[in-house]
Amino acid sequence: MTAIVWRRTELGIKLVFAALLSLTALGVVLWAWRGQEDTGAEEVVAQPIPFSHKHHVGDVGLDCRFCHVGVERTASAGLPSTQICLNCHSQLFAGQAIFEPLRESARTGRPIAWNRVHRLPDFVYFDHAIHVAKGVACLECHGRVDQAPLMQRVATLRMRWCVECHRNPMSRLRDPAHVFEMPPVDTGDSATLHLLQKLQSQQRLTDCSTCHR
Ligand code: HEC
Ligand code: HEC
Ligand code: HEC
Ligand code: HEC
Ligand code: HEC
Repeated sequence: MTAIVWRRTELGIKLVFAALLSLTALGVVLWAWRGQEDTGAEEVVAQPIPFSHKHHVGDVGLDCRFCHVGVERTASAGLPSTQICLNCHSQLFAGQAIFEPLRESARTGRPIAWNRVHRLPDFVYFDHAIHVAKGVACLECHGRVDQAPLMQRVATLRMRWCVECHRNPMSRLRDPAHVFEMPPVDTGDSATLHLLQKLQSQQRLTDCSTCHR
């Protein structure tokens, strides 16, 4: 009799332990997943030439459009041609070993094979020009590029991230004349308010077909 009771208790303890164990495991998995979901930051991506936005934007003071020529007019911002670099580096530091990929590209006519830092899946539609025209600064999605020695992704680019802004873009807009500037600005100005009145309905911006066409 006592033996049966004990066996039952033992079974009970085992079950409780098993339950606790799987709960902990689930907790760990969820925690890891959430962590990944929230930060979105990725490691620095290695490049054929260690190009520094901090040098060229922060120190030299070049405008984004000098190199990302498509960003105001087309869906894609585009990466600079070798010719753009050569404007300065056909002279400046031209002999240095780190510029070998630039020299090779100039010789062969093949573009430098920059590694992509941001990449949406093919089934998502994104357009830079629309965001630029409506006053969404580069800063909102790419962070302090002017302080980045090497490019790094700072946002998750997950659907939830896009939709959170599309639901309420209000506080994330600025005068479109200043979208290329890096430091955060006061968004309460009249230009921004004027702009907001011309935004599409929130309903339209969160429709599936807006981003999945
Ligand atoms: C002198 C040229 C130059 C200027 C000016 C410049 N960039 Fe770039 N940018 C590059 C090059 C080259 C790359 C590719 C290498 C890399 O990812 O670091 C790049 C990459 C990027 C990427 C990552 C692209 C990817 O692979 O997903 C972003 C985002 C970006 N630039 C934003 C900006 C912003 C914002 C500005 C203005 C504040 C700016 N850039 C100004 C040359 C430039
Ligand atoms: C308008 C002129 C200009 C253009 C265009 C330009 N650069 Fe530069 N680059 C500079 C200057 C000036 C420096 C030195 C910056 C400093 O040290 O603060 C520099 C520094 C560099 C360095 C660091 C050199 C070293 O010895 O550490 C690299 C690498 C570089 N540039 C790559 C590029 C690439 C790749 C492009 C094209 C995407 C490019 N640059 C376009 C002016 C330019
Ligand atoms: C609303 C968010 C958002 C804003 C604002 C934004 N970008 Fe992007 N950017 C992205 C996304 C998302 C991608 C990846 C696109 C893809 O994979 O199709 C990207 C990719 C890029 C690339 C890689 C080349 C390309 O076109 O895919 C460059 C360069 C770039 N952005 C520069 C800029 C510059 C410069 C600005 C400011 C004028 C800017 N971005 C503003 C979200 C943004
Ligand atoms: C920081 C805010 C913000 C983020 C983040 C953002 N967007 Fe937008 N998006 C806007 C604003 C503002 C508009 C312009 C709305 C308007 O024209 O009324 C817009 C417009 C668009 C449009 C054009 C809608 C149309 O048909 O006119 C598309 C497509 C779009 N966004 C896709 C995306 C995708 C995909 C992402 C994520 C990778 C994203 N957006 C992230 C603010 C944002
Ligand atoms: C503002 C842009 C935007 C809107 C609106 C949007 N999506 Fe997405 N969606 C994305 C982006 C970006 C991704 C890719 C990144 C990711 O998987 O989170 C994505 C991914 C997905 C995926 C693939 C998920 C996965 O894990 O691979 C599905 C399914 C999807 N969306 C369905 C929808 C449906 C249904 C709606 C309407 C209720 C919708 N989306 C509205 C931007 C959007």
